[in-house]
Amino acid sequence: MKRVLVTGANKGIGRAVVAALLDRHPDVFVYLGCRSPARGTDARNQLAARNQEHLSRTKVVELDVTSERSVCEAERGIREDCEATGTALYGIVNNAGIFSSSAGAAEVLEVNLFGIKRVFDQFYSVLGAQDARVVNVTSASGPNYLSSAEPSVRRVLTDSQATWEDILHIVQLYMKDIESAAIVDQARAASVTYGFSKACANALTVLQARLFPSVAINSCTPGFIDTDLTRQLAAMAGRDPMEMDMKPPSDGVESTLFLLMASEPTITGWYLGSDCKRSPLDSYRAPGDPEFKGH
Ligand SMILES: NC(=O)c1ccc[n+]([C@@H]2O[C@H](COP(=O)([O-])OP(=O)(O)OC[C@H]3O[C@@H](n4cnc5c(N)ncnc54)[C@H](OP(=O)(O)O)[C@@H]3O)[C@@H](O)[C@H]2O)c1
Repeated sequence: MKRVLVTGANKGIGRAVVAALLDRHPDVFVYLGCRSPARGTDARNQLAARNQEHLSRTKVVELDVTSERSVCEAERGIREDCEATGTALYGIVNNAGIFSSSAGAAEVLEVNLFGIKRVFDQFYSVLGAQDARVVNVTSASGPNYLSSAEPSVRRVLTDSQATWEDILHIVQLYMKDIESAAIVDQARAASVTYGFSKACANALTVLQARLFPSVAINSCTPGFIDTDLTRQLAAMAGRDPMEMDMKPPSDGVESTLFLLMASEPTITGWYLGSDCKRSPLDSYRAPGDPEFKGH
């Protein structure tokens, strides 16, 4: 059995990724990382209602990616499971994410950037020594943000040699700027911070891939998908999700499943579009456009 942890697994794209993994890969066991065990159990029951067999290949694990203690306890439980079965963790899908928060930009970064790092740092030692994979679910909002960012920010967040300190420095500057910025339009402020957090998460992916060459670590966008997250975005923009051409969650799993399960993604440190093709970190590449060949 290949053991895979999916964070934010109780709804939206995370739940669709779990369903697709169970349906397409009978050799996969999924830990549903959910900050609410009750919502996680509901999601697991919904999966079981489609196929009872899925109960024996799933387990809900309480996991709030913003909490050091929660991530630590989740790792302990999964490590004990792996030890008891003589296996290792095959993969992590860092899917948990938020668009905005009443607690402001810091909370968005806490989930979308620091959450990914916290989970990876804690779980690294549980990952198998060979063929382990990590998928960071980011967003086309990252490249969109960078396409109009200050050159100094763009340079650091696309630098293949950037360190964690370099990324942190950019985050600190951003927080200073956003606190003093006169962005009165709430929807715009939220979407700027969301894009910034995803650009940083893409840069973190490149860094992790460089530091941990034994693990294939990549990021991807799922596409524009109708979930609670994007419905919030539509509401803030005063638009209807239907007219915005969003697709159902089951259409948002392909790039993640490709990176996690395809027989040979020898790639690491790449960012893929929803069509599973490499995309640049600092400009939007539409699905179907020529693949980015790298610098
Ligand atoms: N939908 C799109 O079009 C789209 C496009 C590009 C990228 N993405 C990315 O795809 C990922 C999934 O988003 P979605 O659209 O499926 O959104 P969603 O339906 O709102 O699901 C988000 C998931 O993340 C979980 N989560 C939030 N904060 C968390 C925390 N602190 N710890 C653990 N889990 C947490 C949520 O749990 P609760 O139920 O407990 O809140 C939920 O399970 C996100 O990273 C998002 O940025 C989405």
